[in-house]
Amino acid sequence: MKIPTKRATGSAHGKIILIGEHSVVHHQPAIAIPFTSATVDVFIDPIIGDVLIDSLYYKGKMKEAPASLNNLKETLHGVTLYLGVQAKDMQITINSKIPAERGMGSSAAVATAFVRALFDYFDRELSHGLLNQFVGVAEKIAHGNPSGIDASVVRSDDAVYFIRNQKTEHFDSHLPAYLVIADTGQEGETIHAVADVGKLVANEQTDGRKWIEELGRLTIEARKKIEEVKVNELGQILTQAQVLLKNLTVSNDALDQLVASAIEHGALGAKLTGGGRGGCMIALVETFEQAETLADKLIEAKAIKTWIHPLGVDNNG
Ligand code: PMV
Repeated sequence: MKIPTKRATGSAHGKIILIGEHSVVHHQPAIAIPFTSATVDVFIDPIIGDVLIDSLYYKGKMKEAPASLNNLKETLHGVTLYLGVQAKDMQITINSKIPAERGMGSSAAVATAFVRALFDYFDRELSHGLLNQFVGVAEKIAHGNPSGIDASVVRSDDAVYFIRNQKTEHFDSHLPAYLVIADTGQEGETIHAVADVGKLVANEQTDGRKWIEELGRLTIEARKKIEEVKVNELGQILTQAQVLLKNLTVSNDALDQLVASAIEHGALGAKLTGGGRGGCMIALVETFEQAETLADKLIEAKAIKTWIHPLGVDNNG
């Protein structure tokens, strides 16, 4: 095989689940939005010999990489097998601005950018279906039982209304409102949280199934409120979802504290986002000024970082 001579690239962005995390694993709808302030770029440069990887967590030979990179090892294996090429002669560099294990879709975004870079490196066409397939395998390794929502939104420019194994609906959200996203600084535990919620749902002695169905109903309501531009009511729905997520054991003290602080300081609603048990929280406010004030309050309440994300068309309020 001729060694490619050019640098290949692939990119993707993070995601924020507005509502429906965990219940989406159990076939309820969820709404997620692209989080384009946090991106990942993967570069592949041609070298002679091994496959080397340079990431925040590991630098060295791909074949000696720790188990935390098994999703990428498997992706490399699957893609090269599919393309009928050998996995060699590559220097892979991962530049990610998406905090890992914070419910922002880091693993799906890195896998998406990596598959895109590999197809670019070997100069082959990549269809949506194939990308989905490879990222799905990587996500199964990273998450155990992924719904597929992360894979779908990290490459979407629009908000998505997602139901597992159904065609994803893309829709424009033009809400005159902002999300303040706050990072607890704690790594989430998506794989364990998903497994534990699965046990609750399977155990008929608990209300697990009922809570999941209630989250599904709230998500359908949330979509209506977005379409009707009813920001206040959307906020209330988000806070109701947080109560159910707490019942499902996927919140924790740090998230509860940030949610309480957001509500205390005027947010219309607040909840965890993503897998939970750490990671990030989102709070809904109407104006950019409110978002800035709330972001400061959340730092006082021990968030290590905040972002302000407009849900409407402009960025500056
Ligand atoms: O923690 P994240 O960013 O991977 O989000 C996971 C969302 C879940 O609904 C908890 C799992 C899934 O696969 O949908």
